[in-house]
Amino acid sequence: IRKIGVMTSGGDAPGMNAAIRAVVRACAYYHTECVGFYRGFQGMIEGDYVTLNARSVRNIITYGGTMLQSARSKEFRTREGRAKAAEKLKEAEVDAMILIGGDGTFKGGLALSEEHGVPCIGVPGTIDNDIAGTNYTIGYDTALNTVVEAIDKIRDTASSHNRLFFVEVMGRDAGFIALNSGIGAGAEEILIPEEDLGLERLLNSLERSRRSGKTSSIVVVSEGDKIGKNVFELAEYVKENLPYYDAKVTVLGHIQRGGRPTCFDRVLASRLCVKAVELLMDGKRDMMVGIINNEIKATGIREALQTEHKVNKDLLRISDILST
Ligand code: F6P
Repeated sequence: IRKIGVMTSGGDAPGMNAAIRAVVRACAYYHTECVGFYRGFQGMIEGDYVTLNARSVRNIITYGGTMLQSARSKEFRTREGRAKAAEKLKEAEVDAMILIGGDGTFKGGLALSEEHGVPCIGVPGTIDNDIAGTNYTIGYDTALNTVVEAIDKIRDTASSHNRLFFVEVMGRDAGFIALNSGIGAGAEEILIPEEDLGLERLLNSLERSRRSGKTSSIVVVSEGDKIGKNVFELAEYVKENLPYYDAKVTVLGHIQRGGRPTCFDRVLASRLCVKAVELLMDGKRDMMVGIINNEIKATGIREALQTEHKVNKDLLRISDILST
């Protein structure tokens, strides 16, 4: 392998810059050239890339976002788009790719490898933490801390006004962010897609909270939860059924994707990406690097895509006990 390409794709996540830095520095260490493609697969199709050396990535470890920018390319989902991308890789003399992103990114990498023989290594970077083959994805820890900090602030005003707040968090179809930030911020209820606890239970629990002397409450709602109502309808429903509650809604949205990465995410990104470069140097391909029980492990990309990374539902029980 003489030249490695790197890109970030899909939703950005804090720590992606630390990941790019680690790829570039590991390439330099192993005397391999490195180029970065802008805007994920879209930049690849357009042949939009930059040569990177150890100094090109100075200081970026501290920043959120991604210096290579990111995109969800529709064109790459077509055979023609992928053929164009492969052509551009050939022109740039790139021998292998390191793809930082989520499952959509890995599916793209697999297609590139199968249709055009480009060796790919995936690095899990998404705030959602919804990737199998790793306990943690890059950006998840930072997002959790952002959410907990935001809920702490909401709690201040909730308790000053005796209010009930529904706080919607990201996570797509997975409840990792909701579940862990909910426990970290001491939420009274946590609604996640993996477990539909039902409206009745929510009302009973809020009623019980009030009777036990609580004057304000926080309900963390995952954006993908399956209770059958969106967060605004949910607040209305609770107001109709429990009129003594002054219910408000906060949708945290994209603030969860930004900000300086935590130390955990920087270290994770660094470890995963050094391993990604080393796998390519060892002639490995179509693998994803992950962290399992604090060890860096490689899994086949196909296997990672076919397996589900499940939330720990025992955390719902813990939340129940602690919100008594
Ligand atoms: O996958 C990361 C994520 O932030 C999800 O939590 C969310 O559902 C989605 O991306 C939002 O996507 P977009 O960047 O298109 O707003």
